[in-house]
Amino acid sequence: MDYQNFAQHDRVIDAIANYYETPPLAYIHSFGCQQNVNDGEKIKGVLLALGYGLTDKAEGADLVVFNTCAVREHAEQRVYGNIGALKNLKLANPKMMIAVCGCMVQQKHVVDKVRQSYPYVDIVFGVNAIDTLPRLIGDRIRTRKRVLLDPVQRTELVEDLPIHRDSTFKAWLPIMYGCDNFCSYCIVPFVRGRERSRTAANILEEFRALVQSGYKEITLLGQNVNSYGKGLERPMDFSDLLAMLAEEPGDFRLRFMTSHPKDASRKLIDTIASHEKICNNLHLPVQSGSNHMLAEMNRKYNVSEYLSLIEYAKKKIPDMTFSSDIIVGFPGETEADFEQTMDLVQKVGYTQLFTFIYSKRSGTKAATLPDDTPYVVKTDRIARLLALHEQFAVGYAQSLIGKRFRVLVDGAGKRPGSFSGRLENNLVVDFTAPCDLTGQFAWVKVTGNKGILLLGELDSLA
Ligand code: 5AD
Ligand code: SF4
Repeated sequence: MDYQNFAQHDRVIDAIANYYETPPLAYIHSFGCQQNVNDGEKIKGVLLALGYGLTDKAEGADLVVFNTCAVREHAEQRVYGNIGALKNLKLANPKMMIAVCGCMVQQKHVVDKVRQSYPYVDIVFGVNAIDTLPRLIGDRIRTRKRVLLDPVQRTELVEDLPIHRDSTFKAWLPIMYGCDNFCSYCIVPFVRGRERSRTAANILEEFRALVQSGYKEITLLGQNVNSYGKGLERPMDFSDLLAMLAEEPGDFRLRFMTSHPKDASRKLIDTIASHEKICNNLHLPVQSGSNHMLAEMNRKYNVSEYLSLIEYAKKKIPDMTFSSDIIVGFPGETEADFEQTMDLVQKVGYTQLFTFIYSKRSGTKAATLPDDTPYVVKTDRIARLLALHEQFAVGYAQSLIGKRFRVLVDGAGKRPGSFSGRLENNLVVDFTAPCDLTGQFAWVKVTGNKGILLLGELDSLA
């Protein structure tokens, strides 16, 4: 690790304090997945330890950090747009620093583009390098030169970074980093590197600290949580880790993402079934309902294997809900392939569906495949898929009317004076209550719905 103890950064802390006339403010924006959001929370922790305050807008910030995502081209374009929009702020405040980090800048061509086209970007650092940030800021101030690091794959796990969490009651807890699967469309294994699992002891320590400080919902994170534990000195499988955490004392709820269908096991379903604190909700991205597409995507399972796990889960846990990611318009996807996806979505009945139009990522296997489906055909397929899904999800929401659920209260709701709570199955209820219960569990009676949004009233305190 670059710096064991952030209190030892006195030289950098002094350099920062001397550089600015008033205590500096930092604005951190994370794009993309929860893993990135959690990295953003660590960046905030590191910057607070260096004497920065936090602000929620770029205007007036002395340091802007864009923590980027590379999974689709659209996400990258948004980052370039956001960097471009900072040019005027930088002209007005030349001491303002701009840092770009995360998955996008793990790609050499992106770092080159930033170097050439965005001369006002001061610092670039990749994923797994948050611990180096103090040194990079120190170097930028001392040398007055830009500090743009070319991508390297760091494999060591950095534990004990300071962290400033966005919520006081919901926490992300990474259990592993990277991915070894090389799905043919996906850039993640290239930018986040090989799978590395944290030790169960480190995870347990962080978990206990979270429960003790009152966190009510803890979501275990990994690109493929079901391959947790491979390569550890004391191998442990994901279901055993999950059971170990669920058996900890305290009033909390446990979620996890993401599960790869090829590794999700019946044992995982049994573990969910036998632990009250593990939410009865499974995010199991299928990507396509066509065996031919699944093979082209290098997913290593077929539709009947996928459906048989879903059937097992439905039998074992009748109120289990499912969510999924689907890619529409993968190179070579025919109308018949797409109809098989529609068929699968109909059979499973997902309560949440995340749909994406295929985005070509250079360096991946799929980027070499001919893709001759017109874009309008792809957008039409997405629209049909969403319509089908919505029909199911709204019907599901209606089926909950009249029932009581324990929800975790998130904050203000959509109607004046109402609150928003999340059910175990991830559905959201907008409910009325005589007092603010944000951050606590409460029992809510569902009285109606507005599309997939449930409406309700407080039944009792949890
Ligand atoms: N194009 C479109 N969607 C993608 N995803 C990953 N890579 C791509 C890509 N190149 C989607 C997958 C994955 C989710 C996080 O993002 O559905 O599960
Ligand atoms: Fe990408 Fe596949 Fe790994 Fe998920 S499992 S991060 S889709 S390569």
